[in-house]
Amino acid sequence: MIAIIGGSGVYDPHMLQDVQDISVDTEYGTVALKSGSHQGRTVYFLARHGGKHSVPPHTVNYRGNIRALQQLNVGRIISTSAVGSLRKEMKPGDFVLLDQFIDFTKNRHYTFFDDSVVHTDFTNPYCSQLRSIICQAALDAQVTLHQQGTYVCTEGPRFETPAEINMFSLLGAHVVGMTNIPEVVLAREAKICYSSIATVTNYAAGISPTRITHQEVIDIMDKNSEMIKRLIAKIIEMIPQTKTCECGD
Ligand code: HPA
Repeated sequence: MIAIIGGSGVYDPHMLQDVQDISVDTEYGTVALKSGSHQGRTVYFLARHGGKHSVPPHTVNYRGNIRALQQLNVGRIISTSAVGSLRKEMKPGDFVLLDQFIDFTKNRHYTFFDDSVVHTDFTNPYCSQLRSIICQAALDAQVTLHQQGTYVCTEGPRFETPAEINMFSLLGAHVVGMTNIPEVVLAREAKICYSSIATVTNYAAGISPTRITHQEVIDIMDKNSEMIKRLIAKIIEMIPQTKTCECGD
């Protein structure tokens, strides 16, 4: 089973057929999502910020969301998110396939393992099999995609200061966002393959010649949303039944 977690600007599963609202009860609360299908495969769609984009990044029920997908037997997650760019060559409107992260969040529930000692390996935080499929799908769909990118996750909901962005840049980050942590962590703990296609919506603070607004983030995501849905449809078609990665080990 495959799930899409739609971030800012990706609120509806228009690439799916037979879409239905469903809800899943978990120990972290009830999660509302949609089920649908694409070319005969069941695909779930979860809007990270809620259907009306009303849940801010630091209050998203990440544990509930991932647990719900786990209970639905989801084996692969394709997530989307908006990011600011720290690198000139990653321009607003570009897609970046994340391959590493740096965690600067402060106050989130970031594990399922509060009552036992479990140290999960994060050498390859994002699924290697999904990575090669997504790179190929982007070529086929003629979508420009940077094949690697280190994501720094901030707590938000405020944007960063130029001094913070300068520090993140020195630490090796390429893009900055507010939602990949703890989503990617919980997915790995739940043994679900996770990939994340980030859309650059702006140059980060101090790199952008202007102040950053939420509106510019939304405008770029709206502009790119058809392209990302086309890309995701292609990816779903290319995902084989058999896993060749190490995410579930
Ligand atoms: N910073 C953090 N999160 C973001 C940004 C940013 O500049 N743009 C889109 N999401």
